[in-house]
Amino acid sequence: MSRRLLITGGAGFIGANFAHFWTHAKPDDRIVLLDALTYAGNYANVAALCDPGAVRFVKGDIRDFDLVCNLLRSEKLDTIVHFAAESHVDRSIVGPGEFVGTNIVGTQVLLDAARAVWLKEGVEHRFHHISTDEVYGSLAPDAAPFSESHPYDPRSPYAASKAASDHLVRAYGHTYGIQYSISNCSNNYGPYQFPEKLIPLCIVNILEGQPLPVYGDGKNIRDWLHVHDHCSAVMKIIEHSPPGETWNVGGNSERSNIDLVRALCAAVDEAFARDRSLATRFPNCPAARGASSAKLITFVKDRPGHDRRYAIDSQRMSNQLGWRAQIGLAQGLADTIAWYLDNETWWRNVMSGKYRDWITQQYGS
Ligand SMILES: NC(=O)c1ccc[n+]([C@@H]2O[C@H](COP(=O)([O-])OP(=O)(O)OC[C@H]3O[C@@H](n4cnc5c(N)ncnc54)[C@H](O)[C@@H]3O)[C@@H](O)[C@H]2O)c1
Repeated sequence: MSRRLLITGGAGFIGANFAHFWTHAKPDDRIVLLDALTYAGNYANVAALCDPGAVRFVKGDIRDFDLVCNLLRSEKLDTIVHFAAESHVDRSIVGPGEFVGTNIVGTQVLLDAARAVWLKEGVEHRFHHISTDEVYGSLAPDAAPFSESHPYDPRSPYAASKAASDHLVRAYGHTYGIQYSISNCSNNYGPYQFPEKLIPLCIVNILEGQPLPVYGDGKNIRDWLHVHDHCSAVMKIIEHSPPGETWNVGGNSERSNIDLVRALCAAVDEAFARDRSLATRFPNCPAARGASSAKLITFVKDRPGHDRRYAIDSQRMSNQLGWRAQIGLAQGLADTIAWYLDNETWWRNVMSGKYRDWITQQYGS
């Protein structure tokens, strides 16, 4: 079945990967990206799709009801894949307001636009909402991973705003008949991730010889999912899940933060040992002098309310939809390091705000 998709947050990390993934798998489907281009969104992530015109890019806010209604009608869109969010827990602790605005109000406005267009005009549709394992709270070390029926217990402003948006999506399904699905997934990593999140931050800092900040004792545990596996899971759900269902999506790769950072250091050291030219490109990296990058690890004061462990049980995805993660963590980390090495211009421009200046010229501030 061909679809006409609105991908919100399509210039962010996961949304951009999803746009590439879907276009590659289904080149005849219509895709419109809607993104406000906050600090986390980069047109460069999707320029290869949008510049040739295969995909339409719209700079705009998901809270703009008229804009969303107009896009749904004029482009005859039948599917919303809702990634747009404020997504960084540390930022939510400093300033929760933006998280309430984008994650809760933004989701409500999108749902209202879907009601106004799809329900009023009798359009067969799907609203797929992207959520997180953080809505379930923190797990004890020996507790079973979160299943879809685990009670919600969000503990950061970010997690609370995502939990609220999940409830709104379900409520609009129950009350008004919006045909929705929800996926709650674990920590993603891979290409195009803004270097404020743990894995790209560490890769960039290792290459630059900068400290690798690790919160507290480093023993907080996360489950890691390669973004391409996440994209394939979301496609599977949109195509095969009945409406009204929630799916947990995990990578089956639990690691403590300190073990993850050590694994990244070892993988970068190996890359430098294999390729001597890296020492010339990144002379400040310890590996350039034959030293271990792990010496950059620096323990810092813990984040307030830092959840100890998240783990996701994806058995329902595998039993009912035949999906399981394909990319093991060691391979995924090696591939991600290779991507950051191959795309030095991308991360330098992202970090220096160079793309932002260009976007402002093209689209206004
Ligand atoms: N990254 C992860 O590990 C992870 C894990 C689980 C769930 N999620 C969820 O996946 C989704 C995408 O996460 P990400 O890591 O790609 O985030 P991201 O921060 O990289 O991207 C978010 C995108 O949303 C856009 N955006 C923000 N506010 C907007 C608004 N008001 N209107 C339109 N666009 C707006 C930004 O410009 C950016 O392009 C989020 O909903 C997040 O909660 C992420």
